[in-house]
Parts: sequence; C-alpha cells; structure tokens
Amino acid sequence: MPSTGSKALVGIGALVTNDPTVGTGPLGILRDAAVVVTDGLIEWIGPGDQCGDADDRIDLAGRAMIPGFVDSHAHLLFAGDRSEEFAARMAGRGYEAGGIRSTVAATRAASDDELRAGLNRLAGELLASGVTTFETKSGYGLTVADEERTLRLAAEATEETTYLGAHVVPEEFADDPDAYVALVTGEMLAACAPHARWIDVFCDRGAFDADQAREILRAGMDRGLTPRVHANQLQHGDGIRVAVESQAASADHCTHTTDDDLELLAGSTTVATLLPGAEFSTRSPYPDARRMIDAGVTVALATDCNPGSSFTTSMPFCIAVAVREMRMTPDEALWAATAGGAAALRRDDIGMLSPGKRADLVSLDAPSHVHLAYRPGVNIIDRVWRSSASPRVTS
Ligand code: NIG
Ligand code: FE
Repeated sequence: MPSTGSKALVGIGALVTNDPTVGTGPLGILRDAAVVVTDGLIEWIGPGDQCGDADDRIDLAGRAMIPGFVDSHAHLLFAGDRSEEFAARMAGRGYEAGGIRSTVAATRAASDDELRAGLNRLAGELLASGVTTFETKSGYGLTVADEERTLRLAAEATEETTYLGAHVVPEEFADDPDAYVALVTGEMLAACAPHARWIDVFCDRGAFDADQAREILRAGMDRGLTPRVHANQLQHGDGIRVAVESQAASADHCTHTTDDDLELLAGSTTVATLLPGAEFSTRSPYPDARRMIDAGVTVALATDCNPGSSFTTSMPFCIAVAVREMRMTPDEALWAATAGGAAALRRDDIGMLSPGKRADLVSLDAPSHVHLAYRPGVNIIDRVWRSSASPRVTS
C-alpha cells in the first residue's frame, strides 16, 4: 500500500541508479522503469509494469532519469566581476593565485544582502542545471569577520560548508604569512568552525606550502572539521600527499600528477575531485582522468564555480569536457558527477537511487544520459526534483 503523499514517476526510458544491484552495468541502469517517492525518499524502484498506485502519477514519456548531480566543490560567496581578467587570459596571460585578492576586496566591501543575493542566484543556476546538493566555501573574506559571515550565509543555503580561510595570504599579511597562518588556525577558525563541516587549504604556488597546509588542516580537525585540499592545480607539489596523509575526503584539481600521486590516492579513501571548468577557463592542461581511473583512483567531477578560474554552474558542461578532453567515458563522467560527488562529501544518502535514499532526481530531454556529453552546450535538463527529506550528514 503506498503511503499518503506518494508520487509515482513512470515511463522512464532509462533510469541510472548507480546501484549495480538494482539495474545493469556499473551504473545500474533500468529500462522502462518507475520510481515511487514518499516523504522525499525513494520508496520503490522497478519495472514500470510492476509499479503500484500512488497519490500522484507523472509520466516521463520515455525520458532518461539520473540521480541529481552532487557538486562537491564551489566558491559561491563573493562579489565583483573578473571578466576582464578572463579576457586577458584568453589573449595570452597566465592564471595566478594572486587574482583571488581582487575578489577579496570586492567581497569585503559587499553587504550581507548582496552576498546572499549572489549566492541565491548561483544556487538557482545549479538547481536548474540538475545539481541537488552543492558544497560551498568561504575564502574571499580572509578577515575573522568576513570569513565568519560568508560561512554563516553559506550555511543558510547548504549543509556542505567549507572553511577556506587559507585560500591565499591577504595583502595586509604579505610581509608576515606566519601571522596569517596563526590567525587562520586560531581566532578565525574559532569563529568559523560553528558554521562549517569541512576545512580546506589551497596548497599550491602563490598560496600555502605543505607544512602550512598540514598545520591548518590539523587545527581544523582538532575543532571537528574534516579536511579537503586544493591540490596540484598550478604545478606539481605536495598537495595530494598532504591530503592523503590527512585522510582528506577529497584532493581537488589534481591537474599535475605523478604515478606516485596516483598510487597514494588509489591506496586511500581520498577522492580525486576534477574540475574541468578551471582548466577550460584558464587554458591549462586537463588532468589525466583516464590514467587516474585506470590506476584505481575514485574520481569526482565538480564545477569549482568561482569568479576567477571557473565561472560555470553547469555540471553538464563539466561532463562534456571531461568526456571529450579527459578521456572519461560518458558512464564514468555521469558516475563521477553524482556518486563520485557523494563520495567526495562522504554522503551515503545521495548520488544513488535505491529505496531509502533521498529522492533527488533529474529527468533529461533525451533517451539516455550519454546525451549529456553527446549534445554539448544544449540544455537537456527537463525537470529536477530535490528531496524534501533532511540530509543525512554524519561527520
Ligand atoms: O579552485 N585554486 C584556488 N581557488 C579557486 C580559484 C579562485 C579564484 O581565482 O578566485 C579554484 O580554482
Ligand atoms: Fe576551488
């Protein structure tokens, strides 16, 4: 007997569940499927002709359906515009971490309402592109008050909030970076930890070195935050090693990697989160996803939405680029943008469709998920259902 308020989604041509016990192949694909949703959770999944009654019935008319995308890496709390910097890059200039400081100045000058409006606009774009869970970071305030308020605003929109006081050393500390690390690990962390689930550090050229990164992550862990690391984006360095040593949930970017890095990742619980929007918008070489997957590394895809290196909210765009430029198969890219993102956020209630999971669902104006890469630049998102149930966040 279906419960009150149940909804049956029927006529699904091809349903990606990401659960190989529910359907065929690694994506667990079910053809001619139906899903019954009750109280925001999946109650039943199976062949359409076995679907019972529900209070509401929606016919997908043969469309494909996938789990909602999980965007595990974004920077949505900022003000200002860097389109001129992008234009200069496209005319030949390189990308440097220092560009972050211009967004810091604009963010500090913005009111809470301006920052909230910007966040809500981008959150709306994410939802329209099929993202049903997103993470977002601080990192454009870099004072105690501005980091605290950006995280407080972030927490109004998502439970996946990350303290990134260690984005770059702000101008006023340029002569004394150690004093800034002391602030990040001291007073700023104390103010921010109540609003954050994660701690992140940009461990790269022009930002923080490995020792500083270790110290920052350790301080965050002591306050109950779980690490994630911006690693190996601008050059090869120790970021991935630091992430794995710290048992970080994720090492993000991983643009420059050696076989040793891949071995470290493959032997760890750290997910490699690849951000093709950043390589696209900085005209950089793409990470070698093929080599990573073949080495046994768990890979996630995320937007990295931010005003400097990747101003996109489109997961379908990231999937298309990952398939075309990073030699991921369409199946691997879809998995990475859903179940991979969930793994990078250590969530078992999202990224997969089976009874008891959140009913975060996206229907496509296409007969299969392959069209996400096959039809680049075309909006094939039909409808997005975001679960009304409370997220299950454990750490
Ligand atoms: O993930 N790498 C560091 N942070 C952002 C870029 C921030 C910016 O340029 O404003 C990133 O790409
Ligand atoms: Fe980032």
